Formats: sequence, C-alpha cells, structure tokens
Amino acid sequence: MSVTDQERLASNLRPVAPPLVIEGVYTDDQHARLLGVAKQHGPWPTITAHHFRSVEELIATSSGMVPKDHGLTLDAIATANFRGFLAENSCLHYPEIHDCFYNAGFLERVKQYWGAQYAKPTMMLFNICGPHNSGLSPHLDAVTFRGVRIENTPVWMQNVMGKSGLFRDHIIKMAQIITWFWQGDEGTFTYWPDGPLGAPQRIGHPMFNKGVVVQNELMFHRGDPVGQPDERAITGLAHRSKLGYRAAADDWAITTDDTVVRTYEQRKIRFLVHWNAEVYMDLHEAKLVMDHTDDLTHERVVDTLLADMRAKGVTVAEPSDPFHDEDFIRALTSTYTIAPTQDWIERPAGVRHSG
Ligand SMILES: [Fe+2]
Repeated sequence: MSVTDQERLASNLRPVAPPLVIEGVYTDDQHARLLGVAKQHGPWPTITAHHFRSVEELIATSSGMVPKDHGLTLDAIATANFRGFLAENSCLHYPEIHDCFYNAGFLERVKQYWGAQYAKPTMMLFNICGPHNSGLSPHLDAVTFRGVRIENTPVWMQNVMGKSGLFRDHIIKMAQIITWFWQGDEGTFTYWPDGPLGAPQRIGHPMFNKGVVVQNELMFHRGDPVGQPDERAITGLAHRSKLGYRAAADDWAITTDDTVVRTYEQRKIRFLVHWNAEVYMDLHEAKLVMDHTDDLTHERVVDTLLADMRAKGVTVAEPSDPFHDEDFIRALTSTYTIAPTQDWIERPAGVRHSG
C-alpha cells in the first residue's frame, strides 16, 4: 500500500476529541451491584466466542493480515478474557443496575465530549479476567452505521467498513465510558488518539474506579497484559472456556467443558465496565437514525466494498455468504489494512510523553 493510501486510511481513524480521564466513576454501591451481576449470572464466555466464528473474522477486527493456510485455530489463539452483556439495543438486562445504565451524568459527559444536543445509552458490557497471556495487538471497537449495527452485523464487517472510509456519511456518532476496577501492577490501557500513525498514550495506575470518555470505534486501543508474566500461563484454555464466580470458595474459576483449568482470588480479578451511548448533534440527526429513512443495507455495503476493491485492482469473487466467507474477509483485510506504527515506550518517571 502506498504512503498516501496509508495516510488516507489513517485519517479516518481519529476520535472526535481527545479521551477524557475521569476518577471515581461509580459509587461503591453501584460497583457492588455491577460486580454482583457478574457473580450471579455467569459463567461468562470468552470475548472472542461472543464475536468470532473463524480466525479470519478475528484478525479482520484487530490489525493483522491473514496469511492463507495459516493453520491457526480459535482454540490455539484463545485468550482468557471473558465478557457479559448488561444491556443491548438500549434494553437493560438486569434491573438492579438501572441507575448505572440509564445514567444522566454519563449522558451529559458524552454530549459534552461531542458538543451534541442528544444522547441515549445503547449498550453496556463488562470484561472480566485474571492474569493471562494476551497479545499486544491494538484494535477498534465495532463501528455503527445507520442500518448496519452490532445487532445485525458481524463485528469484523463493521470494522472493515470503518477502516475503509467508504461509509463515513452513515456512521452513527458514539461515545463510551470505560471504567476499570483493577488493583494489579499491569493491565494498563494504551491508545492512539492521534491516529494509527501517531504516538500512543497510556492510562496507568491507580486503575480502581478510573474511567475514560472515548470514541473507541475510531481510535486504536488495547488493554495491556494483565498480571505478572509468571502468573499468566493457563493450561487447557479453549475458545469455548468460561469464567464464573464460585460463592463457596469466594473465587473465580475458568472451566473448559466443566473442568476447572484455573482459579483466581477476587483481588486478582480485573473488572472493566463498558458503557456505550449514541449521540445526535441535533434533532434532525436523531430522527435520521431512529426513523431509518437513510439506512445502509448489507447488499449495498457488499457491492460498495467489491466495487472499491476491484477499482483498486484486487481480484475477488462475489461472496456467497458475505458475513463468513473467508476469502472475501481476507481480501478486505489486506485491502484496508491499517495498524499503529509506533508502540508505547516506557520512559523514566517524571519524563512527559509528548505527541
Ligand atoms: Fe476495545
């Protein structure tokens, strides 16, 4: 890919405003109720099990290229980070956290972040893990478009659409408030607020009840590895493994087909709460989204992507099942590949990061 192509793709991948760090995001009582849901309603699947059916789909969502005949399996690259949905499509699943999801203070924050008049909460989830091995690969969260959203589209396709820059007019503006409850030494958050060709920033400790207002679907970011290197290994982890709380032992256990493969004490658990809202600059934009008068269709998305790839000289066949066709996914991933070019460099204490 030429330098100009890289710069054009990169220019699409910057948040509307620099992330805003906030302290003391939830009250102790809210935290207890959020964690209570995670304890009572598990066990929880891995993050990747929620979203990906093949290695191709997973890689299309991060930042790599997929070599054909890679020989990898989802089990081989399984990561012990688990996820539960608390609310989807603006519908809260657990009434005991009503005030956390339908949160007036959060709505004001995201409206200010965008300079928008209206907002509504759409989704809330948590990620939960103990020390485990994870990659250092930055990613984007699912981009939402009018008519093409997490409720009806695979995450990998939403991300390819975001990276391509071809559907910018249909992007639904969103912001997230991401909050960490984590007392370990590592597990920081690294992000690229100036685009993938710019320098990263990092949110560091203390990370207990610290949050950030962000637009993570258009900003590369990653959670850094959790736990000390010598406590991360897990034998027997699979794509289908689950993490659940065990009241009798007051600990958390990873199971694979009902066999316990790892346990964690509560103090070793990193709990991340992700709250998502859509924002609308004015009533006209709100109606455009809610009335579905200008929605994309999946057919139009596939046709647009095929036409753009062919215009760039890429040979690609019409996919029979565009959501899961591995050749189609590989062609898209290599055409619209973009990833951060600079990683975080530790500096001695007291030296400020610039850029
Ligand atoms: Fe993310």
